[in-house]
Amino acid sequence: MVEFSMSCFQKTGEKMLSKITSDAFASRMFLLHPAEPPARFLLSSPTQGIYMGKTRLLHAPFFWSPKKTINPHMCVVGISGSGKSYFLKSFLTRCRLIWGTGALILDWAGEYNTWVRQAGGNVVELGRHCGINVLSCPKEKRQERKRELLDALEMLTDLGKYPQQRILYSNAIDAAYSRESDPTLFSVYKLLLKKCKGNDHDALQAAFRLGELVVAGGGLFSPVRSISMDELTVGLVCLDLHSLPSEAARSIVALFTLSFVKEQMRSTKYDESGIKLWIVADEAWKIAQDERSDLINIVREGRKYSFGLIVASQNPTDVHSTIFSNAGTMVIMRLALAQHRSYVQESLRYSGEIASAIGNFSVGEAAVHMVFSSQQHFSSSTFVLGKIDGEEPLLSVRLRGGKMDLELDRETFVRSLVRFGLSDAQVAQVNSEFERADYVLDVFSFVSLLEKFGFGRSLVVSFLRELGIKDASIAGIYAQLEMRKMGSEADKIARLVVSDAEIA
Ligand SMILES: Nc1ncnc2c1ncn2[C@@H]1O[C@H](COP(=O)(O)OP(=O)(O)O)[C@@H](O)[C@H]1O
Ligand SMILES: [Mg+2]
Repeated sequence: MVEFSMSCFQKTGEKMLSKITSDAFASRMFLLHPAEPPARFLLSSPTQGIYMGKTRLLHAPFFWSPKKTINPHMCVVGISGSGKSYFLKSFLTRCRLIWGTGALILDWAGEYNTWVRQAGGNVVELGRHCGINVLSCPKEKRQERKRELLDALEMLTDLGKYPQQRILYSNAIDAAYSRESDPTLFSVYKLLLKKCKGNDHDALQAAFRLGELVVAGGGLFSPVRSISMDELTVGLVCLDLHSLPSEAARSIVALFTLSFVKEQMRSTKYDESGIKLWIVADEAWKIAQDERSDLINIVREGRKYSFGLIVASQNPTDVHSTIFSNAGTMVIMRLALAQHRSYVQESLRYSGEIASAIGNFSVGEAAVHMVFSSQQHFSSSTFVLGKIDGEEPLLSVRLRGGKMDLELDRETFVRSLVRFGLSDAQVAQVNSEFERADYVLDVFSFVSLLEKFGFGRSLVVSFLRELGIKDASIAGIYAQLEMRKMGSEADKIARLVVSDAEIA
């Protein structure tokens, strides 16, 4: 009996001991391996990775690299104002600086154009004078183009409910291709209008639907000047869609641009050196939702061609699950709605603590989820960054006038001004002149400003030379300035003569 009680006691004691040790062990495990990946994953040499910020627990700097993840694609979610676009701008700036990676930004809300201009990129503004002829393609691709167009209409309108009308569009597009060498959507619309004569309900509805797009789009789909698609995939480009007349028009242009990018991507060879081009779709939920969207094709195939896709959205449930589950990196900023938080948590399976932290994030704080490329102790990890450490964009300034057009990095330019001898107040004045002129200043005003500050001509000439302006251009600048001065003198004299005459 005593023996029995002793063994009972012993067993209970062992149990308790094992519980105590495992609890203590668990808490120590936390200290040994906090909920952050080990430093070898987080760190990279500065040319191998893109710095994003420091982890919240250990303050370890985190560098993103396509080599660390299963694919380069990225999905960024968070409520409006949580810091998605800020993060993208910093990230794209660093990628460009370190790897020379270009980016094509499908700018829904027109929030990237100023930044892209300042960073020395190209902003393509679509509208009445510049558009995209979605029917234009090599002859052998016409049937494919027709299918893409019909799919786009199904994605963006109610066409899917009316198969008969899909046939009407298909016939009208074929007819437009056979009648004209370079037909536009307007040609298709006119052909459909002809079909309406017999009061055919389907024809009327089909013509009305296309009319809404073509007529409201002004010259967008039958443009005087079509954007050159080849220009879109070189350097930093912002395709500014915000001034287009409707969500459907924006989406159609974006879908056809993506279709071009997809073709371009497929004809590119894989390049070991890293990512060649980012395709960025910020708040483009309408085209991020549908299986047929080329965003999905790019996500599926992008890695083998060194193209990376970044989709950013306020609402994670708006992003198609293929994009969501195929993105090698998810950046989760503040999510205010519990339903959005649990949707993301269920997909990525991170801890409850991280999920509730996401609900309380302040601006710029982010959880990063990465699917790692190699077989490690863990295949994926989610950790929190204290804050996205931002990058001031690569600002450039331009001096224009006569035949010269000089672009300079803003920091270098400001340093030259200081070296030249301008005081802080004078540098600030030059800066504000540039800001007022959207960073493109005419060189005559610039030279006049320097003279107003009291710098003599020979000093100014040597400064202009130092900036890289050729002697012939400098001579031209002064010749024009003299002409202007003479012009205003002549004006003054003329005014004096007139007022003298009036007195007489
Ligand atoms: N990491 C950050 N550090 C400093 N400021 C930030 C950061 N993230 C966002 N901001 C600022 O917060 C504001 C909203 O950010 P934004 O990127 O436009 O949000 P979202 O694109 O999610 O709507 C901007 O003024 C931006 O400059
Ligand atoms: Mg934004």
